[in-house]
Amino acid sequence: MMNEIISSTNITVHPTEESRIHEVDFNNLVFGKKFSDHMFEMKFSEGVWQEPVIKPFGTFEVTPASNVLHYGQAVFEGMKAFYVDENTVNIYRPETHHERFNHSCRRMCIPETSYETFIDALETLIRLDHQWVPKKNGTALYIRPFIFASDNLLAARSSDKFTYQIITSPVGAYYAEGFNPVSLTTPEKYVRAVVGGTGNVKTAGNYAASFLPAQKAKEKGFTQVLWLDAKEQKYIEEVGTMNIHFLIGDTLITPGLNGSILPGVTRRSVIALAKEWGYNVEERKISIDEVFEAYEDGSLKEVFGSGTAAVVSPVGLIEHNGKTIELDREKPGEFAQKCFDEITDIQYGRKEDQFGWVHPVSI
Ligand code: COI
Repeated sequence: MMNEIISSTNITVHPTEESRIHEVDFNNLVFGKKFSDHMFEMKFSEGVWQEPVIKPFGTFEVTPASNVLHYGQAVFEGMKAFYVDENTVNIYRPETHHERFNHSCRRMCIPETSYETFIDALETLIRLDHQWVPKKNGTALYIRPFIFASDNLLAARSSDKFTYQIITSPVGAYYAEGFNPVSLTTPEKYVRAVVGGTGNVKTAGNYAASFLPAQKAKEKGFTQVLWLDAKEQKYIEEVGTMNIHFLIGDTLITPGLNGSILPGVTRRSVIALAKEWGYNVEERKISIDEVFEAYEDGSLKEVFGSGTAAVVSPVGLIEHNGKTIELDREKPGEFAQKCFDEITDIQYGRKEDQFGWVHPVSI
Protein backbone atom coordinates (compact mmCIF):
# COMPACT_ATOMS: atom_id res chain seq x y z
CA MET A 1 0.00 0.00 0.00
CA MET A 2 1.35 3.35 -1.05
CA ASN A 3 1.10 5.09 2.32
CA GLU A 4 3.27 2.41 3.89
CA ILE A 5 6.23 3.01 1.64
CA ILE A 6 9.19 3.82 3.81
CA SER A 7 12.35 5.46 2.53
CA SER A 8 15.52 4.99 4.54
CA THR A 9 16.82 8.53 4.01
CA ASN A 10 13.49 10.14 4.85
CA ILE A 11 12.31 11.04 1.42
CA THR A 12 8.81 12.41 1.84
CA VAL A 13 6.48 10.48 -0.45
CA HIS A 14 3.34 12.09 -1.88
CA PRO A 15 1.66 9.27 -3.78
CA THR A 16 -0.46 9.97 -6.82
CA GLU A 17 -4.21 9.77 -6.47
CA GLU A 18 -4.67 8.21 -9.86
CA SER A 19 -2.26 6.04 -11.79
CA ARG A 20 -1.78 6.67 -15.54
CA ILE A 21 -0.61 3.15 -16.21
CA HIS A 22 -3.62 2.36 -18.38
CA GLU A 23 -2.17 4.83 -20.97
CA VAL A 24 0.77 2.50 -21.64
CA ASP A 25 0.77 -0.11 -24.38
CA PHE A 26 3.33 -2.52 -22.94
CA ASN A 27 3.42 -4.41 -26.26
CA ASN A 28 4.57 -1.31 -28.13
CA LEU A 29 6.99 0.59 -25.97
CA VAL A 30 8.63 3.57 -27.65
CA PHE A 31 11.87 4.75 -26.02
CA GLY A 32 11.28 7.62 -23.58
CA LYS A 33 7.66 8.47 -24.44
CA LYS A 34 5.73 7.41 -21.34
CA PHE A 35 6.73 8.26 -17.79
CA SER A 36 5.87 6.38 -14.60
CA ASP A 37 3.51 7.83 -12.02
CA HIS A 38 6.15 9.25 -9.67
CA MET A 39 9.30 11.35 -9.79
CA PHE A 40 11.99 12.25 -7.28
CA GLU A 41 12.96 15.86 -6.59
CA MET A 42 15.50 17.59 -4.40
CA LYS A 43 16.51 21.26 -4.55
CA PHE A 44 19.83 22.87 -3.79
CA SER A 45 19.82 26.32 -2.19
CA GLU A 46 21.65 28.18 0.59
CA GLY A 47 24.67 25.95 -0.13
CA VAL A 48 22.97 22.63 0.73
CA TRP A 49 20.72 19.99 -0.75
CA GLN A 50 17.27 20.41 0.81
CA GLU A 51 14.70 17.79 1.80
CA PRO A 52 14.05 15.16 -0.90
CA VAL A 53 10.51 14.35 -2.03
CA ILE A 54 8.82 11.86 -4.32
CA LYS A 55 5.68 13.19 -5.91
CA PRO A 56 3.42 12.55 -8.91
CA PHE A 57 5.19 12.97 -12.27
CA GLY A 58 4.21 16.30 -13.77
CA THR A 59 5.25 19.61 -15.21
CA PHE A 60 6.71 22.33 -13.03
CA GLU A 61 7.53 26.01 -13.26
CA VAL A 62 10.92 27.26 -14.41
CA THR A 63 11.83 30.94 -14.47
CA PRO A 64 12.58 32.21 -18.01
CA ALA A 65 15.91 33.47 -16.61
CA SER A 66 16.90 29.98 -15.49
CA ASN A 67 20.59 29.36 -16.11
CA VAL A 68 19.98 25.97 -17.74
CA LEU A 69 17.82 27.51 -20.49
CA HIS A 70 20.56 29.93 -21.51
CA TYR A 71 23.86 28.33 -20.57
CA GLY A 72 23.01 24.63 -20.33
CA GLN A 73 24.40 23.94 -16.85
CA ALA A 74 22.97 20.43 -16.54
CA VAL A 75 24.05 16.82 -16.11
CA PHE A 76 22.21 13.54 -16.43
CA GLU A 77 22.53 9.78 -16.21
CA GLY A 78 20.85 6.98 -18.14
CA MET A 79 20.36 3.67 -16.36
CA LYS A 80 17.99 0.73 -16.33
CA ALA A 81 16.07 -1.59 -14.01
CA PHE A 82 14.86 -5.06 -15.03
CA TYR A 83 11.93 -7.23 -14.05
CA VAL A 84 13.20 -10.48 -12.52
CA ASP A 85 10.06 -11.94 -10.97
CA GLU A 86 7.03 -10.80 -9.01
CA ASN A 87 9.23 -10.10 -6.00
CA THR A 88 12.34 -8.56 -7.53
CA VAL A 89 13.55 -5.81 -9.86
CA ASN A 90 17.28 -5.49 -10.63
CA ILE A 91 18.90 -2.08 -11.00
CA TYR A 92 21.99 -2.35 -13.20
CA ARG A 93 25.23 -0.92 -11.79
CA PRO A 94 23.73 1.98 -9.81
CA GLU A 95 27.00 2.69 -7.99
CA THR A 96 28.97 3.05 -11.21
CA HIS A 97 26.30 5.34 -12.64
CA HIS A 98 26.30 7.43 -9.49
CA GLU A 99 30.10 7.78 -9.57
CA ARG A 100 29.83 9.07 -13.13
CA PHE A 101 26.96 11.38 -12.15
CA ASN A 102 29.18 13.03 -9.53
CA HIS A 103 32.10 13.13 -11.98
CA SER A 104 29.85 15.05 -14.40
CA CYS A 105 28.72 17.35 -11.55
CA ARG A 106 32.31 18.24 -10.70
CA ARG A 107 33.12 19.24 -14.29
CA MET A 108 29.92 21.25 -14.65
CA CYS A 109 30.22 23.08 -11.32
CA ILE A 110 27.14 21.37 -9.92
CA PRO A 111 27.07 20.24 -6.27
CA GLU A 112 27.57 16.49 -5.86
CA THR A 113 24.89 14.24 -4.40
CA SER A 114 25.12 11.30 -1.99
CA TYR A 115 24.84 7.68 -3.09
CA GLU A 116 22.62 7.03 -0.07
CA THR A 117 19.91 9.40 -1.29
CA PHE A 118 20.35 8.24 -4.91
CA ILE A 119 19.84 4.54 -4.17
CA ASP A 120 17.05 5.22 -1.72
CA ALA A 121 15.29 7.38 -4.33
CA LEU A 122 15.65 4.60 -6.92
CA GLU A 123 14.43 1.87 -4.59
CA THR A 124 11.48 3.95 -3.40
CA LEU A 125 10.49 4.93 -6.94
CA ILE A 126 10.72 1.32 -8.12
CA ARG A 127 8.62 0.05 -5.21
CA LEU A 128 5.98 2.73 -5.81
CA ASP A 129 5.91 2.23 -9.57
CA HIS A 130 6.78 -1.47 -9.77
CA GLN A 131 3.87 -2.08 -12.12
CA TRP A 132 5.56 0.22 -14.62
CA VAL A 133 8.57 -2.11 -14.91
CA PRO A 134 7.84 -3.96 -18.14
CA LYS A 135 8.06 -7.74 -18.01
CA LYS A 136 8.86 -8.79 -21.56
CA ASN A 137 12.34 -9.81 -22.58
CA GLY A 138 14.11 -6.85 -24.20
CA THR A 139 12.22 -4.26 -22.17
CA ALA A 140 13.28 -2.35 -19.05
CA LEU A 141 12.49 0.59 -16.83
CA TYR A 142 14.75 3.37 -18.06
CA ILE A 143 15.89 5.65 -15.23
CA ARG A 144 16.87 9.24 -15.92
CA PRO A 145 18.47 11.14 -13.01
CA PHE A 146 19.36 14.74 -13.88
CA ILE A 147 20.34 18.02 -12.26
CA PHE A 148 19.95 21.47 -13.75
CA ALA A 149 20.80 25.02 -12.71
CA SER A 150 17.68 26.90 -11.69
CA ASP A 151 18.87 30.37 -10.59
CA ASN A 152 16.70 33.30 -11.64
CA LEU A 153 19.72 35.20 -12.99
CA LEU A 154 21.09 35.90 -16.45
CA ALA A 155 24.71 36.27 -15.39
CA ALA A 156 26.89 33.73 -17.20
CA ARG A 157 28.32 32.04 -14.14
CA SER A 158 27.55 28.94 -12.13
CA SER A 159 24.14 28.94 -10.54
CA ASP A 160 23.52 28.97 -6.76
CA LYS A 161 20.32 26.98 -7.13
CA PHE A 162 19.88 23.54 -8.64
CA THR A 163 17.07 21.07 -9.12
CA TYR A 164 17.74 17.32 -9.00
CA GLN A 165 15.08 15.02 -10.38
CA ILE A 166 14.72 11.37 -11.29
CA ILE A 167 12.08 10.21 -13.73
CA THR A 168 11.51 6.68 -15.02
CA SER A 169 10.05 5.31 -18.21
CA PRO A 170 9.16 1.80 -19.45
CA VAL A 171 11.17 1.20 -22.64
CA GLY A 172 11.81 -1.25 -25.45
CA ALA A 173 14.75 -1.17 -27.89
CA TYR A 174 16.45 2.20 -28.45
CA TYR A 175 17.10 1.84 -32.17
CA ALA A 176 14.39 1.07 -34.72
CA GLU A 177 16.77 -1.70 -35.88
CA GLY A 178 16.40 -3.40 -32.45
CA PHE A 179 19.37 -5.75 -32.11
CA ASN A 180 19.98 -5.76 -35.88
CA PRO A 181 23.11 -4.09 -37.26
CA VAL A 182 23.17 -0.30 -37.52
CA SER A 183 25.05 1.84 -40.07
CA LEU A 184 27.52 4.62 -39.26
CA THR A 185 29.17 7.49 -41.09
CA THR A 186 31.96 9.84 -40.04
CA PRO A 187 30.84 13.50 -40.12
CA GLU A 188 32.57 15.59 -42.75
CA LYS A 189 33.10 18.80 -40.83
CA TYR A 190 31.89 18.36 -37.30
CA VAL A 191 33.55 17.14 -34.11
CA ARG A 192 31.95 15.99 -30.88
CA ALA A 193 34.46 16.97 -28.21
CA VAL A 194 38.01 18.07 -27.54
CA VAL A 195 40.28 16.92 -24.74
CA GLY A 196 39.81 19.40 -21.89
CA GLY A 197 36.22 20.08 -22.95
CA THR A 198 33.15 18.24 -21.69
CA GLY A 199 33.12 15.12 -23.89
CA ASN A 200 33.88 12.80 -20.99
CA VAL A 201 30.91 13.92 -18.90
CA LYS A 202 27.21 13.51 -19.41
CA THR A 203 26.09 17.07 -19.90
CA ALA A 204 23.14 18.29 -21.93
CA GLY A 205 25.06 20.45 -24.43
CA ASN A 206 27.13 17.54 -25.74
CA TYR A 207 23.94 16.02 -27.06
CA ALA A 208 22.45 19.26 -28.42
CA ALA A 209 25.66 19.83 -30.40
CA SER A 210 25.39 16.36 -31.94
CA PHE A 211 21.86 16.74 -33.30
CA LEU A 212 22.79 18.49 -36.57
CA PRO A 213 25.49 15.97 -37.59
CA ALA A 214 23.15 13.14 -36.52
CA GLN A 215 20.36 14.61 -38.63
CA LYS A 216 22.69 14.88 -41.62
CA ALA A 217 23.81 11.27 -41.15
CA LYS A 218 20.14 10.20 -41.08
CA GLU A 219 19.42 12.14 -44.28
CA LYS A 220 22.22 10.18 -45.94
CA GLY A 221 20.60 6.94 -44.76
CA PHE A 222 22.85 6.14 -41.78
CA THR A 223 21.67 5.33 -38.27
CA GLN A 224 24.31 7.31 -36.39
CA VAL A 225 27.51 9.33 -36.54
CA LEU A 226 30.91 7.74 -35.88
CA TRP A 227 32.92 10.48 -34.19
CA LEU A 228 36.61 10.97 -34.85
CA ASP A 229 38.98 12.95 -32.63
CA ALA A 230 38.69 16.72 -32.96
CA LYS A 231 42.39 17.44 -33.46
CA GLU A 232 43.46 15.14 -36.26
CA GLN A 233 40.14 13.67 -37.42
CA LYS A 234 41.96 10.38 -37.40
CA TYR A 235 41.20 8.41 -34.23
CA ILE A 236 37.85 6.85 -33.46
CA GLU A 237 36.12 8.15 -30.34
CA GLU A 238 32.52 6.99 -30.02
CA VAL A 239 29.14 6.78 -31.72
CA GLY A 240 26.21 9.22 -31.23
CA THR A 241 24.74 7.50 -28.16
CA MET A 242 27.18 4.62 -27.57
CA ASN A 243 30.80 3.65 -27.08
CA ILE A 244 32.34 1.51 -29.81
CA HIS A 245 34.36 -1.73 -29.89
CA PHE A 246 36.28 -3.55 -32.64
CA LEU A 247 37.08 -7.24 -32.69
CA ILE A 248 40.23 -7.53 -34.78
CA GLY A 249 41.58 -11.06 -34.87
CA ASP A 250 41.16 -12.22 -31.29
CA THR A 251 41.66 -8.78 -29.79
CA LEU A 252 38.89 -6.54 -28.55
CA ILE A 253 39.99 -2.97 -29.19
CA THR A 254 38.07 -0.12 -27.55
CA PRO A 255 39.07 3.55 -27.91
CA GLY A 256 40.85 4.47 -24.65
CA LEU A 257 39.39 7.07 -22.30
CA ASN A 258 41.48 9.98 -23.54
CA GLY A 259 39.47 12.75 -21.89
CA SER A 260 36.97 13.41 -24.66
CA ILE A 261 35.19 10.03 -24.68
CA LEU A 262 32.27 9.24 -22.37
CA PRO A 263 33.24 6.50 -19.87
CA GLY A 264 30.30 4.21 -20.63
CA VAL A 265 29.03 1.80 -17.98
CA THR A 266 28.12 -0.87 -20.54
CA ARG A 267 31.53 -0.25 -22.15
CA ARG A 268 33.08 -1.28 -18.82
CA SER A 269 30.89 -4.40 -18.70
CA VAL A 270 31.89 -5.44 -22.24
CA ILE A 271 35.59 -5.02 -21.43
CA ALA A 272 35.25 -7.00 -18.17
CA LEU A 273 33.48 -9.84 -19.98
CA ALA A 274 36.03 -9.98 -22.81
CA LYS A 275 38.83 -10.23 -20.21
CA GLU A 276 36.91 -12.91 -18.32
CA TRP A 277 36.50 -14.89 -21.56
CA GLY A 278 40.23 -14.77 -22.23
CA TYR A 279 40.31 -12.35 -25.17
CA ASN A 280 43.15 -9.92 -25.60
CA VAL A 281 41.71 -6.57 -24.60
CA GLU A 282 43.21 -3.26 -25.62
CA GLU A 283 41.96 0.16 -24.60
CA ARG A 284 43.94 2.49 -26.81
CA LYS A 285 43.88 4.89 -29.74
CA ILE A 286 42.51 3.25 -32.85
CA SER A 287 42.53 5.13 -36.13
CA ILE A 288 39.86 4.85 -38.79
CA ASP A 289 42.67 3.84 -41.19
CA GLU A 290 43.60 0.91 -38.94
CA VAL A 291 39.99 -0.30 -39.06
CA PHE A 292 39.90 -0.06 -42.88
CA GLU A 293 43.24 -1.91 -43.10
CA ALA A 294 41.91 -4.68 -40.83
CA TYR A 295 38.81 -4.88 -43.01
CA GLU A 296 40.92 -5.14 -46.16
CA ASP A 297 43.22 -7.84 -44.76
CA GLY A 298 40.24 -9.79 -43.39
CA SER A 299 41.09 -9.49 -39.69
CA LEU A 300 38.18 -7.15 -38.81
CA LYS A 301 35.67 -9.61 -37.43
CA GLU A 302 33.10 -7.44 -35.68
CA VAL A 303 32.20 -3.89 -34.79
CA PHE A 304 29.61 -3.07 -32.16
CA GLY A 305 28.47 -0.28 -29.88
CA SER A 306 27.58 -0.40 -26.20
CA GLY A 307 25.42 1.88 -24.08
CA THR A 308 22.68 1.83 -21.49
CA ALA A 309 19.89 2.66 -23.90
CA ALA A 310 21.24 0.54 -26.77
CA VAL A 311 22.81 -2.27 -24.64
CA VAL A 312 24.99 -3.89 -27.33
CA SER A 313 24.34 -2.80 -30.87
CA PRO A 314 26.08 -4.50 -33.82
CA VAL A 315 27.44 -2.28 -36.60
CA GLY A 316 26.91 -3.60 -40.13
CA LEU A 317 28.26 -0.69 -42.17
CA ILE A 318 30.78 2.14 -41.76
CA GLU A 319 31.21 4.90 -44.32
CA HIS A 320 34.21 7.22 -44.25
CA ASN A 321 35.33 9.60 -47.01
CA GLY A 322 33.43 7.67 -49.68
CA LYS A 323 34.85 4.27 -48.68
CA THR A 324 32.76 1.66 -46.91
CA ILE A 325 33.22 -1.28 -44.62
CA GLU A 326 30.45 -3.77 -44.98
CA LEU A 327 30.08 -6.45 -42.33
CA ASP A 328 27.08 -8.70 -41.69
CA ARG A 329 24.10 -6.39 -42.19
CA GLU A 330 21.49 -8.95 -41.29
CA LYS A 331 22.49 -10.27 -37.90
CA PRO A 332 24.86 -9.59 -35.00
CA GLY A 333 28.30 -11.17 -34.92
CA GLU A 334 29.05 -14.01 -32.51
CA PHE A 335 30.98 -11.86 -30.02
CA ALA A 336 28.38 -9.05 -29.90
CA GLN A 337 25.68 -11.67 -29.47
CA LYS A 338 27.61 -13.30 -26.62
CA CYS A 339 28.09 -9.95 -24.86
CA PHE A 340 24.44 -9.05 -25.34
CA ASP A 341 23.29 -12.44 -23.99
CA GLU A 342 25.61 -12.37 -20.99
CA ILE A 343 24.79 -8.78 -20.01
CA THR A 344 21.05 -9.21 -20.42
CA ASP A 345 21.09 -12.59 -18.62
CA ILE A 346 22.76 -10.89 -15.65
CA GLN A 347 20.40 -7.90 -15.84
CA TYR A 348 17.25 -10.06 -15.85
CA GLY A 349 18.64 -12.32 -13.11
CA ARG A 350 18.80 -15.36 -15.40
CA LYS A 351 22.47 -15.88 -14.72
CA GLU A 352 24.62 -15.61 -11.65
CA ASP A 353 25.99 -12.09 -11.22
CA GLN A 354 29.63 -12.91 -10.49
CA PHE A 355 30.67 -9.26 -10.96
CA GLY A 356 28.22 -7.77 -8.45
CA TRP A 357 26.65 -5.58 -11.13
CA VAL A 358 23.02 -5.82 -10.18
CA HIS A 359 21.32 -4.24 -7.19
CA PRO A 360 18.16 -6.23 -6.45
CA VAL A 361 15.13 -4.37 -5.12
CA SER A 362 12.38 -6.36 -3.45
CA ILE A 363 9.01 -5.10 -4.58
C1 COI B 1 21.96 6.13 -22.49
O1 COI B 1 22.47 5.22 -23.14
O2 COI B 1 21.35 5.95 -21.44
C2 COI B 1 22.07 7.50 -22.92
O3 COI B 1 22.19 8.34 -22.09
C3 COI B 1 21.90 7.79 -24.31
C4 COI B 1 20.72 8.67 -24.44
C5 COI B 1 21.12 9.99 -24.91
C6 COI B 1 19.57 8.07 -25.11
